[in-house]
Formats: sequence, structure tokens, C-alpha cells
Amino acid sequence: MNAVVRDYGLVGEDSRDAFDKGLAEAEWFRPPIDAQRLRELQVRTNARAARDTLLWLGLLVGFGYLAYQSLGSWWAVPAFGAYGALYGGAGDSRWHECGHGTAFRTRWLNDVVYYVASFMLLRQPTLWRWSHVRHHTDTIVVGRDPEIMFPRPSSLRRVLGVYLPVAILPKAVWRTARHAAGRFDDDARELIPEDELPKLKWESRAYIAVLGATAAWCFVAGSVVPALYIGLPTFYGAWLMVFFGAMQHAGLREDVLDHRYNSRTVYMNPILRFLYSNMNYHVEHHIFPTVPYHALPDLHAEVKDYLAPADRSTISAYRRIFATLRRQWRDPSYDDPRPDVPDVAGSQREFVNTGHTAWAGDTHDGMIDLGPAEGLAPGTARRVDHGEATYALYRLEPEDGDAGQPDSEFVLSDGLCTHGQAHLAEGAVLDCIVECPKHNGCFDLQTGEALRYPATEPITLYDVTLRNGRLTSTLSPRVRSGEC
Ligand code: FES
Repeated sequence: MNAVVRDYGLVGEDSRDAFDKGLAEAEWFRPPIDAQRLRELQVRTNARAARDTLLWLGLLVGFGYLAYQSLGSWWAVPAFGAYGALYGGAGDSRWHECGHGTAFRTRWLNDVVYYVASFMLLRQPTLWRWSHVRHHTDTIVVGRDPEIMFPRPSSLRRVLGVYLPVAILPKAVWRTARHAAGRFDDDARELIPEDELPKLKWESRAYIAVLGATAAWCFVAGSVVPALYIGLPTFYGAWLMVFFGAMQHAGLREDVLDHRYNSRTVYMNPILRFLYSNMNYHVEHHIFPTVPYHALPDLHAEVKDYLAPADRSTISAYRRIFATLRRQWRDPSYDDPRPDVPDVAGSQREFVNTGHTAWAGDTHDGMIDLGPAEGLAPGTARRVDHGEATYALYRLEPEDGDAGQPDSEFVLSDGLCTHGQAHLAEGAVLDCIVECPKHNGCFDLQTGEALRYPATEPITLYDVTLRNGRLTSTLSPRVRSGEC
């Protein structure tokens, strides 16, 4: 059979086709979930993320110490093996979760861990932030998703290239060097906004400075040991990252707007789930990226009836993956068919998760009726449509100073995120911030200001008044008083 050769680059023919076929920046399937339950699952705590991060770093230091103590003996091999797996393997899921901004409640703590883990993985933070945003926008859409691990046709060389990450060393180093010199490749220019490219240059230079200092240390010491702690673990420990990461989408369907067909959930034991930060619940993560890693098992329990049954273990998942890749070697159009995905009525994308879509009603005295306040619980949002426009109506958790001013709890904003087409009523309302359901962009609900990438443009806020149990608005733009 003749292989169908597709262009997996981000600026090629398949990239243009993805727009023509309606696959780029499209709307995706999302199962229904009770609004209040989703709100509970979206809660972040610094304590949980701090505990897991300190345990990870403690193990890293512990195995690093054991490796040092056992230098010169064969015991150094397993000790460095464990150190590398924690550094270049478990570092990946910390990088991922903090990149979404969902691990810690405090935003700067996410950023600190994100930058540290980015270095461990030799990923320039700015490039990979935007790469991962695209991965979530157009998951496994050929020509759009930069994180497809197994392009088709599959081949032994390609599969080995994924599972032997040391093979990517020259390319990763060369790419970092080019970016440090301000020579950005097409993919970087395609993914990163122009005004962020200088960051990529300086990040690459910082990496080269640290790696160069490590190399100098090795030279002066006449030993490779410093590099075994800094730099090389990215490669000799990456097997664990690949072991986990390949399970996420390998062999599954390309060009489909439903994560149940292109992503995989696999049951794992608690040790693997700790190392992988629960990313084995990968279908759930893609559908609800505002839910932090520690709540994914509970999210799975809520929505599993709408998904294909999870693979029972990593062994069963890999059996299925390798069988599929083998068939794709001969027939690139073959997909793991997933006949077990439930046929949910109306499964094409609807705004169903809030359960609270309302249509703004009559206008009296210039005030538009937004519906009853009752039923909009604190910390949740409701979509409101009026004419051709759509809005998000939020109820914030009341603060002490709000006593006697109940309408100060309610906020009305533009419905659509300024980064994409996601509806903010489906996002997470965290204190007085709304986090976009698609890529975790954040907006201040006091000012409308965009607080977190990839959102950079503000949303407009509008007046809201509570009258006789109903909410009304003149749709006049306003900035709310107080601080977020
Ligand atoms: S659509 Fe991307 S942050 Fe909202």
C-alpha cells in the first residue's frame, strides 16, 4: 500500500487544509457535568501542590546524594538512573501542570516551578508555553499540533526516535543555539507572538550559560560528574517522560474534534500517578484543563460514563499502542477505532457544563433582564445571550465588606475569551478572577484586565443590578471598585 505522506509541519499544506476542513481553532466535545461539582473540582490549594513538589525535590536530592556517595561503584548506576528519571521524567508532568497554572493556588509559585522544570527538560519556557497552547487548541490535528509524537506513516526508525530520546540531543542543542543567536525557526515564529520572541532568545542564552558553566566545571574538575547532575539527566532520564507521554495520544485518531477519540486514559498505581501527576487521566485533562491534577481521579468518576473505558493498566495500553503502530506502519490511515466511546446524544459541542444558559429577556426602563439571581451559586457563572451577543454572568464569593450590597457579588462580562472562542461562563471562577476553560488564560473581574497568557487583551465588564431577586443591566461598560 502506498503511504499517504502528510505534512506535520506548522506552515505546510496540511496546516492550510485544517482551516478549510474546520479543524483549526474549532469547538470540541465536552460532556455534561454539574456546575457546582465542577466548581469543587477546580479548587486549587498551595498545600497539596507544595507537598507533592517538596516530595519530588526531596527524592531528587536524596537520589542525587546516594549517587554521589556511590561514585566509583556499580551502585551509582541505579542511583543516577532514579535521579535522571525524577529530573528528565517526572519533571515533565510538573512542567506541564505548572504551565497550565493549575498546580498551586498562588500564580508565581506555578511560574517558579514551570521555569525550573523547563530548564530540566531543556525546553525554552516561552516556546513551549505557546506550543502547548496550540496542542490544546488543535489536539492531534495534522499541520496544527506541534506535539504529535508519532507522525504517520509509522516506522521502526520513528518509533525508536521517540523511545531513545538521546537521539534528539543534537537537534535540541542546535535549536537552542540558533534561538540564542536570534535565529528563530518557522515553528517558533508560527507559535509565538512577535513581541515575545526576544524572551525566547534570552531564555536560550540563559540555558547556554548554565550548561556552559557546567561544562567548564567538568573541564576544571576533570570529571563528567557535574554534567551527570545538570544537563545530561534531561537525556538519560527522559525515558520516563516518553514512557508516560507516548501513552497520551499514540495511535489514536487524527483530525477529530473529540478528545475521547484522540486521547487515552490509563489506570495506574499510586506511585506511577505521583510520578506522572495524574496525567494518566488524559482525556479528562484535555476536556477540562481548569481542573488541577490532584482532582482528576474525582473528575474521572464524574464523567467516565461519557468516555471510552480506560485502559486497565500501562501494559494493556502499550499492547494496544504497539499493535496500532504496527498496523499504521503498513496502513497510515488506520486508527485505533475506539468503538467503545459512548454515543452520547447531541455529543457535538454544546455549552452544557454550566447547565445555566439563559436568554436575556425583556427590557424595562432601559434595563435588560438577565434572569433570576437564584440558582447562580457563589463561585459559578452563567451564560447569558442577548440578541447576537453573548455574555458571562458571575457570582463571586461574598466578601466581608459586601454585606448590605448583594449586587456587588455579581459581575457581567463579554462572553468570549479575547484569546479564542471559548466561553468564559464555562471557566473557573477563582476569587475575583475567571480562568478560561480552553487554555487557562485569566481575567480580573474587577477591571477586565488579562492577567495570564495566552490571553493578553482585556474583556469588557458591564453594570449589574439586583432588583427584586432578578439581575438587570444596561450593558454599560464599567470598572468595578475594589481590588482583586
Ligand atoms: S481561548 Fe485561549 S485563553 Fe481563552
